[in-house]
Amino acid sequence: MKPLRIAVAKGRLEEKTLELLAAMGMDCSLAKDKGRKLILPLGEGRLELVLAKAPDIITYVEYGVCEMGIVGKDTIMEMAQSLYEVMDLGFGVCRMALAAAVGRNFYQGFGAKTVATKYPHIARTYFESKAMDVNIVKIEGSVELAPLLGLADGIVDIVETGGTLRANGLEEKETVAQLSARLVVNVAGMKLRRGEIEAFLSRLRQALAKGETAVGAGEG
Ligand code: PRP
Repeated sequence: MKPLRIAVAKGRLEEKTLELLAAMGMDCSLAKDKGRKLILPLGEGRLELVLAKAPDIITYVEYGVCEMGIVGKDTIMEMAQSLYEVMDLGFGVCRMALAAAVGRNFYQGFGAKTVATKYPHIARTYFESKAMDVNIVKIEGSVELAPLLGLADGIVDIVETGGTLRANGLEEKETVAQLSARLVVNVAGMKLRRGEIEAFLSRLRQALAKGETAVGAGEG
């Protein structure tokens, strides 16, 4: 039987994800010494860990080349079209927020505001829900630069500790969404490999419930 593939976001969520898999009783030693390898066998060959960039996880899971993925809610909200979001894993807790210069009323004055973000879909949906006409500018990283450079009136971005905002004279004005790591599953895979996926989910629930891992809200 082909191993189940689980795509995991490289970077911020990677360490907590490995802790969680280890708490499920999987030998993750290969993943710890992976070097530049991107596909790692886990759990006596029953599972393959695929290390990918967060947006690519959605692509791999939606196309079904990975049955499951662990990725932030931000990426799901921005990109996902057809997958099952089956579990909130409780780590990587942070929020999507509207931020602008300290003391400044983002809404004051006439004319459409400009907002910089890595998440144009989330930002557009948010301002549409408030019936606001806002220009969205897509930025690839360090979005905090955009208002400092005079490109934008505010940003929609991830805030975890708030340290990056503070260091750059910005403050949170509104929370757009609460975020954390989620388990996603391919729609067809959920039918075709239901037994294996259910077994994986049940071990995952047990590991989370037992708290055998250091993962927990607020530690993401
Ligand atoms: C994220 C986010 C903020 C920062 C927030 O960026 O875009 O810049 O983290 O974290 P804080 O509230 O704890 O300061 P990331 O480090 O992922 O890099 P990027 O800006 O290059 O995307």
